[in-house]
Amino acid sequence: MKKIALIFGLLFCFTTTFSQQNEIDRKVEELLQKMTLEEKIGQLNQYSGDSEATGPITINPNKQSEIKNGLLGSMLNVKTVEHTQQFQELAMQSRLKIPLLFGLDVVHGYKTTFPIPLAEAASWDLEAIELSARVAAVETSASGIHWTFAPMVDISRDPRWGRVMEGAGEDTYLGSKIAYARVKGFQGNQLGDTDAVMACVKHFAAYGAAVGGRDYNSVDMSYRMLWETFLPPFKAALDAGAATFMNSFNDLNGIPATGNTYLQRDILKGKWNFKGFVVSDWGSIGEMIAHGYSKDSKEAALQAITAGSDMDMESNAYRNNLVELVKVNKVSLDVIDDAVRRILYKKFELGLFDDPFKFSNPERQKAALTNLEHTKAARAIASKSIVLLKNEKNILPLSKETKTIAFIGPMVKPKRINHGFWSIDLKDVDSTYIVSQWEGLERKVGKNTKLLYAKGCSVEGTDKSGFKEAIAVAKKADVVILSIGEAFNMSGEAKSRSTIQLPGVQEDLIKELQKTGKPIVILINAGRPLVFNWTAENMPTIVYTWWLGSEAGNAIADILFGDYNPSGKLPMTFPRTEGQIPIYYNHFNTGRPAIGEDKIYKSAYIDLPNSPQFPFGFGLSYTTFQYSDLKLSTQKIKSSEAIEVSFKLTNSGKFEGEEVVQLYLRDKVGCVVRPIKELKDFEKVKLAIGETKTITFIIDKSKLSFYNDKLEYISEAGEFDLMIGSSSEDIRLISNFELVQ
Ligand code: GLC
Repeated sequence: MKKIALIFGLLFCFTTTFSQQNEIDRKVEELLQKMTLEEKIGQLNQYSGDSEATGPITINPNKQSEIKNGLLGSMLNVKTVEHTQQFQELAMQSRLKIPLLFGLDVVHGYKTTFPIPLAEAASWDLEAIELSARVAAVETSASGIHWTFAPMVDISRDPRWGRVMEGAGEDTYLGSKIAYARVKGFQGNQLGDTDAVMACVKHFAAYGAAVGGRDYNSVDMSYRMLWETFLPPFKAALDAGAATFMNSFNDLNGIPATGNTYLQRDILKGKWNFKGFVVSDWGSIGEMIAHGYSKDSKEAALQAITAGSDMDMESNAYRNNLVELVKVNKVSLDVIDDAVRRILYKKFELGLFDDPFKFSNPERQKAALTNLEHTKAARAIASKSIVLLKNEKNILPLSKETKTIAFIGPMVKPKRINHGFWSIDLKDVDSTYIVSQWEGLERKVGKNTKLLYAKGCSVEGTDKSGFKEAIAVAKKADVVILSIGEAFNMSGEAKSRSTIQLPGVQEDLIKELQKTGKPIVILINAGRPLVFNWTAENMPTIVYTWWLGSEAGNAIADILFGDYNPSGKLPMTFPRTEGQIPIYYNHFNTGRPAIGEDKIYKSAYIDLPNSPQFPFGFGLSYTTFQYSDLKLSTQKIKSSEAIEVSFKLTNSGKFEGEEVVQLYLRDKVGCVVRPIKELKDFEKVKLAIGETKTITFIIDKSKLSFYNDKLEYISEAGEFDLMIGSSSEDIRLISNFELVQ
């Protein structure tokens, strides 16, 4: 009976959705027939609100009149119900009353700022990551905005690239899982709900592989690498129902992504059957002139619309050229209509034609922006994102009854510094709601604890005049906490760094404070992996705190005093030096692998070990975990079968804690060489002291497949190594199995 009910239920849902889609298709066609060519092309235009130009764009002086004449489809960088309503009211004066779409870069939170996405990736907690996006969607949609330009799903193996802070790191499997979770969080139950926003998967594609880690630089790679490493997170986001995509600034194998038919039409709208629309990244259409791919704005418009870029964010190329290009038959009306249909479909799906002001509710905005559940969620994931790199003398966790604590460093008292490059400055919201690291500690310690402060030095510059005071303060304390790192504008867009050392004289300050002989806890706040070799080798207690957002101070205090046992794991490899970059865990073995110290005529550096400072998947806990009893249901499978892998995980230490257990596989021999290991599954497991749980993974063909040199997605008979570990290098259990065709 139940089965029949389920089938009928599914059938009902399918038919309801199908009929809804048909109904919207009908309305779109009806509207399209009424539109002039100018009105159609207006829908392909997007202008920025109050943000300054960041590329070859010309701010159009007649924005408002164009809106009233129905010649604009969307705006970005317009915040709050009040401001979006003003522009929507202008749109309602137009002949066809086609509502505007409002988009904004809500990358890690709207008012409640969450940890930067790279930090959230370090939590490996997909539920928490989805909740983070969900909260961002609730606050954004309540503020009159329909669309966020997120998630950024660019894989990157180069920490010189400042935009690693926006993504999920170097691994395709982890990045794909996170991409899926973020889209689900942003889009909620269904588009059109007033607590949901359209996601925008970016930057399509391979933007994170910029040569030299230099932002906006060229990308050149095999299509096999593109399909194997860089495209899967985009496909995962699409599978999650992503409403829109954004293309990327880079050229890929000689063709700018914005004018790249292979990416936008063959793959996205063709093979993947994407029904949403593609927006250019800022002025990327106009930038094809600088690329040397378009001789002028008119050719750029022709190339971009033909290649599948539906909406022109800010280059004005479509506004200035498409009408004429259609009139002289250089661009077919069918191409224009396809782009317009895609955009109108989303506006109908959001319900904006029924009620253009359905997202303009001041009471809902106020409630969303003062919801304490949001700050709780931010604090929870911030604690989970922190990575304990060293705790050699078990200085941590600290006692709340510690008599005197010296809290030193340029990151201790500022608030904004915890926010990261893409956080949103709401004019009418002061930054007091951001909990500084100092405030977090003040609230945490006992009434008998004395807190001392010294700045010590600035993030940048060579001034050491503050060292003296810092040393004096340290000498009066039982323990020193030193909070250092990158300023919030040192990672992010157009923030590539040729060296990724701790900036300024911060590491000198560490050396001076070490001479006091006091126990020192180092907190490193950054938007990327940094190089800090001396500190990594000489200081016993190091905590990587990224940029944790509004609840930074509380989350850091939770970790320092053991109210939350750190569980973060690195989503990117930390190099010893820039000279190792690109460095990543899932590399090929080469014909001359350097094993340990054997480097003679091997693939190695003569002046440095091949190994990273800290490996992918690494992170410590205050407790310890034992892995045991590895069992495979079989050690030989056909491609249609699966292996059940199980093992026991025990909390063998003195604290309750969470462990991210990681499953890596190695395909020993392939028709193309295969990585020495690849992450194929993981689980974040919470265990009480002494508790044991059995963890199970399923290995099926999907975990054994790869792209061959003909871009066929295949699996091959052969042997596989199986590794289960606490990091990509800390392998605790091993086995093997064979795939037989
Ligand atoms: C920027 C970024 C992109 C962002 C867009 C709108 O240049 O590359 O990620 O969504 O412009 O701000």
